[in-house]
Amino acid sequence: MTATTDTLSRSTDSSQPLVPLLEERWSPRSYDETATISDAQFDAVLEAARWAASAMNHQPRRFVAGRRGTETFAKINENLLGFNAAWAFRASALVVGVLETVTEDGEPRPFAQYDLGQSLAALTVQAHAEGLHVHQMAGIDAEGLRAAFDLPERFLPYTVTAIGTVADPSQLDEKAAEREVAPRTRLPLEEVVLVKE
Ligand SMILES: Cc1cc2nc3c(=O)[nH]c(=O)nc-3n(C[C@H](O)[C@H](O)[C@H](O)COP(=O)(O)O)c2cc1C
Repeated sequence: MTATTDTLSRSTDSSQPLVPLLEERWSPRSYDETATISDAQFDAVLEAARWAASAMNHQPRRFVAGRRGTETFAKINENLLGFNAAWAFRASALVVGVLETVTEDGEPRPFAQYDLGQSLAALTVQAHAEGLHVHQMAGIDAEGLRAAFDLPERFLPYTVTAIGTVADPSQLDEKAAEREVAPRTRLPLEEVVLVKE
């Protein structure tokens, strides 16, 4: 199922021109269930995540990454909640973002969430540069994922990111298909920038 030009890129109403990769990024739910991610692309997005900035360079983030058709993908997919389970199974890959909440020696990692977010933002930009799209999800069964991958208590599955090739919205249910083409909105710049001089 091919995507139209409209669904390949849903541009922003940004007041300033952005770098094209940021301008064109959006989070689809309709993915081509026949499309695959190559070895090189998979390595590239994970390398982008690895090289993101990190507080004190502690890198308290880990990843469980599975391509569609693998046991790893199936286990991740089984631990998506409700709405997410209805569309993410068509992605080419699913990546669990895992927080290292404390080290093996019991040292806390208070910036783990921030660090993981940095790395998934980098993964997203790299994926778009590879001609792929990405959709992050917080609607996951964290304990189910921990059990599925036998992760120790100090590791917390935090998000799952779908990576794939965008497809026509018509394969989604009516409500999801409408959301797929609805205008993308953000809070106004004046509201999010508290002080600017
Ligand atoms: C941390 C995080 C969690 C999210 N969780 C979900 C989710 O569980 N299900 C979903 O469909 N979208 C989820 N999203 C996607 C957001 O809804 C989406 O990024 C937002 O609506 C903005 O749309 P855009 O990415 O197309 O600009 C999540 C995004 C982030 C960053």
